[in-house]
This record gives sequence, structure tokens and C-alpha cells, in this order.
Amino acid sequence: MDRLVITGGIPLRGTVRISGAKNAALPAIAAALLTDEPVELANVPDVVDVASMLRLVQRLGTSATHIGGAPGRIRLLTPELLSIEAPYDLVRRMRASVLVLGPLLARVGRARVSLPGGCAIGPRPIDLHLKGLERMGAQIDLVDGYVEARAPDGLHGAEIEFPQPSVGATENLLMAATLARGTTRIVNAAREPEIVDLVRLLCAMGARIEGAGTSILEIEGVSRLGGAHHTILPDRIEAGTYAIAAAITGGRLTIEQAPLELLGAARDKLCEAGVELVERENGFEVGRANGILEGVDVMTRPYPGFATDLQAQFMALMCVARGAAMITETIFENRFMHVPELMRMGAKITVHGGSALVRGVERLKGAPVMATDLRASVSLVLAALAAEGRTEINRIYHLDRGYEALERKLAAVGARIERVP
Ligand code: EPZ
Repeated sequence: MDRLVITGGIPLRGTVRISGAKNAALPAIAAALLTDEPVELANVPDVVDVASMLRLVQRLGTSATHIGGAPGRIRLLTPELLSIEAPYDLVRRMRASVLVLGPLLARVGRARVSLPGGCAIGPRPIDLHLKGLERMGAQIDLVDGYVEARAPDGLHGAEIEFPQPSVGATENLLMAATLARGTTRIVNAAREPEIVDLVRLLCAMGARIEGAGTSILEIEGVSRLGGAHHTILPDRIEAGTYAIAAAITGGRLTIEQAPLELLGAARDKLCEAGVELVERENGFEVGRANGILEGVDVMTRPYPGFATDLQAQFMALMCVARGAAMITETIFENRFMHVPELMRMGAKITVHGGSALVRGVERLKGAPVMATDLRASVSLVLAALAAEGRTEINRIYHLDRGYEALERKLAAVGARIERVP
């Protein structure tokens, strides 16, 4: 198992280029199943989750070829489906595999997808995906831990209302509805930029979708979809992570290829905390405004609220801010796995249910710590960059799932970081 060894205390300076969004690339790869024509994706990040998704669609019958020239360009072609099964050993490693459910049902009216099972941050059910597909005419049975779905007469449009926004359920039903007979309305749909990006791709393929980015999506089914060329949008979570890296180390970074507004509510919270973010031609500049970081309360909410995927990173920043910060996680049941690890580095945090009270300290101290999930891992990297001395982070395979070339990008702006086998 690889480890990361970081010597902290160095203010980061230089330029970081942001990659394509993992959470937009994954549904885009699934969307290619909807057509027998080629779908070319650009700006696809080179991360483990994308490799897993490509392996899954290849099993289903998609040919995935990397196109030379610009990095991250992939050509997907699914002339016919050779399988309709997403097996447990793939799905358990990457929950987003369930995103093939809607496309398979829409394309051939059958799917056998393993239930994802839980993960470190919570039970992660898919009931909203399944209820929505049933409303569209699918018959769903749970057999031996698998979802067995059939739509022998094809899917039909329906009115679907979510009790709370779900990114994955919105994406699955959106893709299923593009080829359903009639119109589908999804009420209380997720509004994340990754959903807007998926709608852009589906419309380029010939789908008819209104309301992208709002909480009401209206999809008028069409008889078939064609190929398309699509560039994946920049990863707002990666951009937010590096913005916090600049702030926590007291350095200054130029973030390239990610517009500042992608940060959404995190931008306002970072400003409140004393971080200066300045719009630039092809991104933004970020650093502390006057050297002091202030404790700021944060509550994670569905987009456009503060992203749950930035909660752990923001908590690391609050560990070295002046005063206290109350951080409340409202999306997932157990997304504080980074807390005990940050405390090993001297952070002062007390957790009460879904809220963590952080009291800022002068300096964190390097220590051996353990990564537990993707975003918790990177919050430990951020803390290590700011801490005095040496930190060793174990189980960093979590990081490789969602951050492209993390050590390279950090080392290029002055971090003392190395991967030790
Ligand atoms: C997506 O997960 C992202 N993953 C997550 O990023 C992100 O944290 C999450 O959205 C929330 O923004 C991808 O896009 C691949 P949800 P998803 O459905 O779709 C509950 C990362 O670090 N729920 O929006 O699984 C669920 O338990 C990952 O990149 C149901 O109850 O999240 C959660 O509490 C982590 N029933 C809430 O809704 C369902 O059928 C939001 O989940 C579906 C979800």
C-alpha cells in the first residue's frame, strides 16, 4: 500500500491546472450507452474511478479508445450491448456504477446491476433511483443483492418528485427519460453543475431537455440518440481543494482552467474566512487577504449550497483559523471520518451528531494518519501541508480515485511531498 510523506510549513506558490470533473465524467461515460454512434469526450480526468467506469462499460459492449493529442480524450462506441450486468465486484468498488441502470433500461429494456452496498460515508441507498424507474414503467426486483430491472414495453414518461435532491438519481432518471415514450418531469431534481454538464451532452446527442440547473427538469423522449463531441467541465471540488491549499499554507496560487463561480457557496465562505479570491482570465488567484484566517460556520447543502465534497477540506482550514467554526454535514450520515485523524495532528474538534465544533489552533503537528474516503484523505493532505514537521498518510488509494496527479501538482508549487511504496 502506498503512503504519502509530507513535510509541512511551506507556503505554496505557483500555478495549478484543474482537471475535468470526475463526477461529470462518470455519468457522461454511462450516457454513451444510449447510442450506437460514437461519443467523444474531452478533458476526462485520469483517475481510478474513471478507469473503473470505462472497464464497466467495456464489459457491457462499449469500445473505449484514447485519442492521441490532447490529454483525456476518449472515444466511446457501443454498436450493441454484449451484456446487461454490472457485477458486484465492480459496483462495490465504485457506487457510480449504478449510473448504467437508466441507460441500459432505456437502450434494451433490461439491466442487472448489483446493489452498491454502503461505503465509509454512509449507507448510500438507491431507493430514489428505483422508485423513479418504476414510475417510468420498469419492473424492479431485488434478487441475491442485485437489482433486476425489466421494461419489456420500453419506458414511458412520468412525473417524479424527489423528497430531497439526489445527484445520482437525477442523472439515472434523466438518461432513462431521454428515450422514454412521452414526457418526464423530475421535480426537486439536483442542480449541481455536473447535472448541467450531463444535460449539455445529452442534448448534443439529440435529447430534448428543459430546466438544466433548476429543480424542475422536463424531458421529452425521442426515438433514438446520436453521437456527440463533449468537453467535460472543470472539477469544482478539485479547484476548491487547491484554493484551500493556498489558504491553509499562507501561500498564493493561480488556479487555471476553473472559473471562480464554479466554487459557488464555498467562494463566499472562503472570503468570510479571510481568503482572497481574484477572478483571472482563465481561472482565479487565491491567497490569504491579510494573513489571518477567521473561524466561519458552514452547513453543507445540495447545490447551490456549500458542497458536502468540500466539507472535510474546509474543516482542515478551520483547524488553523482564529476562533471557532461549527461545521454541519446535512447530506451524509457519517462524513466526519477525518475528524479523529485531524485530532492526531493536534486539531481541537468536538463532534455532536451531524455537527463538528472546530476550535482553531496556532499550528498543527505532523503525525502518521490514515485516509478513509476520498475527501477525508485530501483534508489530511491539506492539514499536513500546513503542519509543522512530517506527516505520513496511509491508504492513499482513496486519493487516487478522484484527484489526478495530486503529488505532481502540489510538488510543482513547492510542496515537499512524496509517494512511498
Ligand atoms: C454524488 O453522489 C457524488 N458522486 C458525491 O461525490 C457527492 O457527495 C453527492 O453526489 C452529493 O453531492 C458522484 O457524482 C459520482 P446523492 P450520490 O444521491 O449521487 C441520499 C465524491 O466524493 N439518497 O446526491 O450518491 C444519500 O444517501 C462523491 O466525489 C437516498 O436516500 O449522492 C445522501 O444522503 C462522494 N436515496 C443524499 O441522498 C437515493 O436513492 C444525497 O445523495 C439516493 C440518495
